[in-house]
Amino acid sequence: MTSAPFPDRPRVDAREKVLGQAQYAADVAVPGLLYAMLVPATIAKGSVRSVPVDAAMRVAGVVRVLTASDFPPPPAGGAGGPPPPPTITDQIAYRGQPVALVVAETLEAAIEGAEAIRPTYAAMAFVATIEGDGVEPQPVEPSTGGDADAAMARAVTRHEAEYVSPAQHHNPIEMLSTTAVWEGGVLTVYEGTQGSNMAKGALMRTLRLSADQVVVKSPQIGGGFGQKGGAQRQTAIVARAAMLLGRPVKLVVPRGQIFHNATFRPKNRHRIEIGADAEGRMIAVRYDADQQQSRQGQFPPAYHESPPMMYGIADYHGTAANLRIDTQAPGYMRAPTPHPSSFAFDSAVDEMAVKLGIDPLAFRLKHRATRDPIDDKPFSTHFLHECLTEGARRFGWDKRPLAAGATVRPDGTQVGWGVGCGAYPANVHPTIATLRIGADGTTRFAAAGHEMGQGIRSTIEQVLVRELAIDPAGLEIAIGDTSVAPQHVTAGSWGTASAVIAAERAAASAKAAMADLLAGRTPPAGNLHRQLATVRRPSIQVEVTTTGPGQGAKEVERLRQGGMAVSGPVYPQFTSFSYIAHFVEVHVEPRTRRIRVPRVVSVADCGRVISPRTAASQVRGGVVWAISACLREATEVDPRYGGWLNNDLADYVVAVNADIGEIDVAFVDQPDNMFNALGAKGLGEVAMTGCAAAVANAVYHATGKRLREMPFRIENLL
Ligand code: MOS
Repeated sequence: MTSAPFPDRPRVDAREKVLGQAQYAADVAVPGLLYAMLVPATIAKGSVRSVPVDAAMRVAGVVRVLTASDFPPPPAGGAGGPPPPPTITDQIAYRGQPVALVVAETLEAAIEGAEAIRPTYAAMAFVATIEGDGVEPQPVEPSTGGDADAAMARAVTRHEAEYVSPAQHHNPIEMLSTTAVWEGGVLTVYEGTQGSNMAKGALMRTLRLSADQVVVKSPQIGGGFGQKGGAQRQTAIVARAAMLLGRPVKLVVPRGQIFHNATFRPKNRHRIEIGADAEGRMIAVRYDADQQQSRQGQFPPAYHESPPMMYGIADYHGTAANLRIDTQAPGYMRAPTPHPSSFAFDSAVDEMAVKLGIDPLAFRLKHRATRDPIDDKPFSTHFLHECLTEGARRFGWDKRPLAAGATVRPDGTQVGWGVGCGAYPANVHPTIATLRIGADGTTRFAAAGHEMGQGIRSTIEQVLVRELAIDPAGLEIAIGDTSVAPQHVTAGSWGTASAVIAAERAAASAKAAMADLLAGRTPPAGNLHRQLATVRRPSIQVEVTTTGPGQGAKEVERLRQGGMAVSGPVYPQFTSFSYIAHFVEVHVEPRTRRIRVPRVVSVADCGRVISPRTAASQVRGGVVWAISACLREATEVDPRYGGWLNNDLADYVVAVNADIGEIDVAFVDQPDNMFNALGAKGLGEVAMTGCAAAVANAVYHATGKRLREMPFRIENLL
């Protein structure tokens, strides 16, 4: 077992993607297809009195309108599984909730039918913003290490401030969509989902189907980011329509409705107090966070996941609370809590450096973390210093003037340099993989995992090519399909680590099986394909099961049942996180006060890099999103009506090409062999953490103005 660096190789599906041949869920062509459209509620809370369907049924081509009475009552809870996806009910919990589904022979007829429906409602009073009256904080368990109060009392320098992150919505290119086929008593669902088994389980419970009656296929996803992690709002509704009508039904949810029916990043607030000793070292943190939550929502306010893992501050006290209001459930959105908490915390750290008059890079390097203070475990690997020093070298940080506002170009442009750091848990999920090697040169690897653009197939190919010397042209990687292997929810940055250790184990097992076949004879020359041909065997197939540190049969069984069995970042013997440091240059234009980001250097510690090309793309994507998140993105609410006001890409502004400059990416590339044999941690989410803080810190350095609320707008710098 070697842990040498992996070579740069092209992305597995690059060619198909560039040629438009990669097939996404809504591309699936099914004969006899019907088209569907949802009817959204126009009240924020209350109940549906009636849904008159006559006007819709008069539209030529409309086949049927489904309303609440077309769905089985929700199944009783219990069994410990995740809840079934909601269908259509008469109880309205948020504006935009579906009240009907119109099914038609054409998309145009479905849209026209949906627009013809005017439900009547009994409306109730509601609260649409966390600033509204009657919003009570509901605290969760605090995160505590040491004695923050006592340490704070010893501090000689203190910084205290509040930081705010807005509600934001994922806008992947691929819309939410479901195509459902009910044939011969089997429901086949094509859906871009990060959790095909999760969707399957939800369909089974909601529509009273058995495991062998549901197949969910999600071989390619056009951007997941957590929006496609759980059971989706429309899935069971569309499946029910296909079952009732006996014809395939497709729904592509329009973007405006996605804003109201998908999960989102809730608004969150951070009151942070940091204390430093006489040597200028941070010794105490008191940190209270709260977040917007829906009345029924469960998205955990885990804002203390990452900050305690950064700088070795032993005395840390963090609280967090939910603020429940009348919105759809918030959920996981890339670096769900570590993105906003790293904006808040690494801004606060920067403010402390400024207060102490120390260079912000030198200040961070005065702190080295060796233990997780919350769970009192050693870190497996922690290469944040290496990220910082390599990033500073690539960026040219040594030429940075200490004072804010010191660099002004002749045209009045203010130039600032900032650094920001982040961390994200190194998680892993049990995986069951089968590997079949044929004498005809073909290789088939089937396992858990979903390809959402991050390059999971490329990481699997890297390992199989290295371990087995196979020709990748004959390699098929079957993932994201409940009929090929039990599928985990591919999220939380556990995809790569989970897939590559399964690939490595499967390769080792295949080599052992070949050795058994040879029974002591000298292996014929060449790879396993050649050896099989020589010993006149058509193929060998092996199955392996891998688990995270400290896991066993119980977690594997949960995976077999289609449930969640993820572990990390706290393991029996250690705590494991990935780290990143971002160095950012901003230009603030003199008259418009527009903030530009011409240059970013990001250096990540994700353990061993498996696929250098897709890994670098992941980091660039995370940096792009962080720039977008801190300069552009916020979803606004009109408190009089609820729902989301700017629910389209004209008004919910995301970064475009012209907003992005040079992004230089590098890796520490040191394996974490305590975590797994290949030494791979996670990368997808750590990429985004800390970058918004780096931008804020650079804006401060350019202008002397500290921005503590995202997004940073022109008017904040006037
Ligand atoms: Mo991610 S937000 O865990 O898909």
